Amino acid sequence: MDRCNFRCTYCMPESIYGDHYTFLSNQQRLSFDEIERLCRIAASLGVSKLRLTGGEPLLRPKLHELVARLRQIDGITDLAMTTNGVLLGRHATALREAGLDRVTVSLDTLDPALFHRMSGNRGALDEVLAGIEAAQAARFPHGIKLNTVVQRGVNDHTVLDLVQRFRGSGIVPRLIEYMDTGNHNDWRRDAVVPSAELIAAIDARWPLDPLPPRCDGEVATRFRFRDGQGEIGVISSISAPFCGDCSRARLSSEGSLYTCLFAAQGTDLRSLLRDGSNDEALRERLRHTWLRRNDRYSEERMERRLRAVRKIEMHYIGG
Ligand code: 5AD
Ligand code: SF4
Repeated sequence: MDRCNFRCTYCMPESIYGDHYTFLSNQQRLSFDEIERLCRIAASLGVSKLRLTGGEPLLRPKLHELVARLRQIDGITDLAMTTNGVLLGRHATALREAGLDRVTVSLDTLDPALFHRMSGNRGALDEVLAGIEAAQAARFPHGIKLNTVVQRGVNDHTVLDLVQRFRGSGIVPRLIEYMDTGNHNDWRRDAVVPSAELIAAIDARWPLDPLPPRCDGEVATRFRFRDGQGEIGVISSISAPFCGDCSRARLSSEGSLYTCLFAAQGTDLRSLLRDGSNDEALRERLRHTWLRRNDRYSEERMERRLRAVRKIEMHYIGG
């Protein structure tokens, strides 16, 4: 879903995504039938993990119906969603019953005023915390994670509080280095807090041990609290890019496939979906796009920024 009910300053700043911004129409967005068809074809090519994201996926009416359809696809072993959490209180149980395995909630700080400001004056911290509680009560089989984007001088002073609050809860915070996604977030390298710095600060307070990666292509580096109070992860996309291990493809709301979060261009699949092409033609386009990919934006960040090619916006293809 390209729309969102927040306007996080690093993702969809209000100055760009104000009242006059035109989002996709329902006709332009893929239908559940079309999404399901593409996911079946992707699964036949070996895709086993799916994540619903955005924008805010829960703005799509009856999202649990899509979850139930995707759950039926052979070969899908992990079905996840990333949400800002505001609508989770209302939908957690239906999503769990439809077969969603895990939820990631974006939560940048526990300071209510700062939270409100970072969401572009749209979000209430209490609602998100209530959404997280509802998700806990729903008992998603693969659990709950938090995405915390850390910006120096903005919310870095509140990270320890957040870690403390969720220690022992079973919920896993993941601290993400602020990235230069899209074209509007005025990213500066000095606003990035290197993960190593955060880990050192957390370790000084609650000693940590590194954990081995659980699977290929895992983007987070994981640590456990030595006192048994759970784990945290860091995503060091700026200080330690992991392009070489990336195995993700992203499908936009209007049916373009992107092989990198920082891509300038996607591959149109919607026209094939809508012109009567058969599954084999779609499978070929998917396979061809994937085999041809050579994206490594994060490893080439500084040279690429000089060339200033316009990138796809994150709310359009998800995290
Ligand atoms: N840098 C890092 N993370 C980001 N996200 C959105 N924009 C950025 C950025 N510029 C995160 C959100 C959300 C997920 C989809 O990606 O916080 O949790
Ligand atoms: Fe919405 Fe998430 Fe982007 Fe914030 S980061 S504007 S909640 S999509």
